[in-house]
Amino acid sequence: MSKKVELLNQLTADLAVAFVKFHNLHWNVTGERFKEVHEYAEELYDALNEQYDEVAERVKMLGEFPPASMKAYLETTKIEELTNKDYTILETNELLLETLKYLRSLATDARNVADEEGDFATVAMLEDIVGVYCKHVWFLSQMVK
Ligand SMILES: [Fe+2]
Repeated sequence: MSKKVELLNQLTADLAVAFVKFHNLHWNVTGERFKEVHEYAEELYDALNEQYDEVAERVKMLGEFPPASMKAYLETTKIEELTNKDYTILETNELLLETLKYLRSLATDARNVADEEGDFATVAMLEDIVGVYCKHVWFLSQMVK
């Protein structure tokens, strides 16, 4: 498997796990601004869900198999899952931020490897995805200040 596909498959697995992790925060955030952060977490996991499908389908277009089971995701992911408990607004925003920074770094690495191969379709997809992360990393950085 090429380095590019390896990174895209890593991203597929991480997006699947981040989707669940963000639901945990969506459900378990507590505090005065619950509704705002609850809804923001939903906006984020909806974005991750679209990316998850898009990245996996790109792997198919490249003639390879994306990971497609929870077992494979848990074996592959570098994202740590959360326990069931209450999370303060600050904890929630910090966890969302840390996860998105990790995903941005991985998607950037994948973008650069695809660029070295002249695979502009993968580059374009990943640049859009990184752009989404950049916006939310900025939002969340402002929120945790
Ligand atoms: Fe919900």
